[in-house]
Amino acid sequence: MDVTGEIGEVRRLVAAARQRGCGIGCVPTMGALHPGHVSLVAECRKRVDYTVLTIFVNPTQFAPHEDLNKYPRPIEADLAACRAAGVDCVFMPEISSLYPPGYDTWVTVEGMSSLLEGEFRPGHFRGVATIVAKLFNIVHPDIACFGSKDYQQQSLIRQMVRDLNQPVEIVVCPTIREPDGLAMSSRNVYLSPSDRETAVVLSRSLRTAEQALLSGERDVAAVEARMRAELESKPNVRVQYAVIRDPVTLQPLTESQPEMVGLIAAYVGQTRLIDHLTIRLPRS
Ligand code: PAF
Repeated sequence: MDVTGEIGEVRRLVAAARQRGCGIGCVPTMGALHPGHVSLVAECRKRVDYTVLTIFVNPTQFAPHEDLNKYPRPIEADLAACRAAGVDCVFMPEISSLYPPGYDTWVTVEGMSSLLEGEFRPGHFRGVATIVAKLFNIVHPDIACFGSKDYQQQSLIRQMVRDLNQPVEIVVCPTIREPDGLAMSSRNVYLSPSDRETAVVLSRSLRTAEQALLSGERDVAAVEARMRAELESKPNVRVQYAVIRDPVTLQPLTESQPEMVGLIAAYVGQTRLIDHLTIRLPRS
């Protein structure tokens, strides 16, 4: 497995792999790898012969009050996980090589960036779209794998790729969950033992919403109120949003429709978690 922080070197390695006839896959991450990331690598390796995993804690997607400085960076464990997963190349650039002094070019996906996560994390998606576009320009992958856990992020990246005619196929892989249902996330390490127990309420309230809709509830506001009430029944949970939306546009709904997505962002103690569930009603 090659490990490099140099843009020129990753380009050289990718070009050599291409010359050997390999398809190129990219798995962009911020490190602190968990089984969710490993499942992205496995999916990537099923589809292409050369997998580049990027590790870069991207400062431009964190607001000043967010957890950039304390974001976990277990680099040795990450490299071991990459080796075990069969990654071909780890690209882990320095901030200064991706954002040198005077850097001033940004990618903004209008509309999608200001909804939900964008409302609570202004500027976040500008940072995400910019870094992902830059990584695509460096790695030139044929495919790139993302987890569906960051539901809005993958929607935004798919839109960016469409809008900018980027020649990369976006592969979205299912959320990997702990046995009790908590979605795996690098931020779960912040949870205290009691917060960790409480955190399962996010996936539970999504299931509650799904049950209500499957049982024939049509009033989306009523379902959202039930989700919120279940979340807020826990004293250390602070809800930012708990909504049912259109799965493509993420726009609000008044009535249920055949396909919807439930989305939640909430603080459990000091830790901000997100989760979602795609909800499909049987055709009548
Ligand atoms: O999902 C993440 O880990 C990050 O947002 C990403 C896509 C690697 C961009 O920094």
